[in-house]
Amino acid sequence: MDVLPSLADSSVDFIYIDPPFNTGRTQQRTRIRTTRDEEGGDRVGFKDQRYRTEVLPSSRYADRFDDFIAFLVPRLEEAARVLKDTGSFFLHIDYREVHYCKIVLDEIFGRDSFMNEIIWSYDYGGRSRKRWPAKHDNILWYAKDPKNYTFNYDAMDRIPYLAPGLVSKEKVARGKTPTDVWWHTIVPTQSKEKTSYPTQKPLGILSRLVRVHTNPGDVLLDFFAGSGTLGEAAAVEDRNFILIDSNPEATQVMRKRLAFAEPQFLDWKRQAKRKRSGRSSPSKS
Ligand SMILES: C[S@@+](CC[C@H](N)C(=O)[O-])C[C@H]1O[C@@H](n2cnc3c(N)ncnc32)[C@H](O)[C@@H]1O
Repeated sequence: MDVLPSLADSSVDFIYIDPPFNTGRTQQRTRIRTTRDEEGGDRVGFKDQRYRTEVLPSSRYADRFDDFIAFLVPRLEEAARVLKDTGSFFLHIDYREVHYCKIVLDEIFGRDSFMNEIIWSYDYGGRSRKRWPAKHDNILWYAKDPKNYTFNYDAMDRIPYLAPGLVSKEKVARGKTPTDVWWHTIVPTQSKEKTSYPTQKPLGILSRLVRVHTNPGDVLLDFFAGSGTLGEAAAVEDRNFILIDSNPEATQVMRKRLAFAEPQFLDWKRQAKRKRSGRSSPSKS
């Protein structure tokens, strides 16, 4: 919130945020009940009547939730302000908060601006035996103007058919376009993509968003940037980026990760590809 007000109105083409849910500060809200009690009352009220007060257990979940939405709303309002008229906003959130977030986003952007709820489905970690294991995140997409926004259909990557026997060989070879349900692994621990940052999101998810929803030269913003996944996706696709994070560790990780996109690395696109394929790290040209 220190930085966002310094960005001009309608100055960025695309925003993606992946905020932390539990933002720390839990509101201490004391709830009390008062009952008339002439004998043991500890408070004196109207017409000198005595009341007994009891402290009631507070709803910790409600308190935490109120905090989260109160934390998020001013940032979402700033996002709407800095986004260009043709721009898109993406909120990456989990299944427990997505419904509340959609309600506030509908108010901020307008219900007509809601375009998709993308489900990122992964298959990792323990499996509950007591309910369906939750293995997805939700990404809400809002277009500032639902009649005029960037959507590069031809830039979509193609995915394999589930039942290739039911379609022609040509179609199998070409693959099909993705739907609003995206199957993608989490960032594997031993992969080259992995930074030391614990909440890092997969580059594959961010790259798909960047290719389809932005154009070369656009300005992309992530103000909960973490390890800088959006920055890498943007740099590799020849887009500009603004990354913000309140955690100095995140800034360090991003600097290292995005060194290949510094202007002095003139041929940074080639460097990025080299980095992905695991060959030597970029050198100054
Ligand atoms: C879930 S992580 C983002 C991960 C990122 N998408 C990635 O791929 O690495 C959320 C980030 O929000 C940052 N954060 C938390 N509170 C913040 C605040 N008030 N302002 C800016 N960043 C904040 C945290 O430091 C953390 O890096």
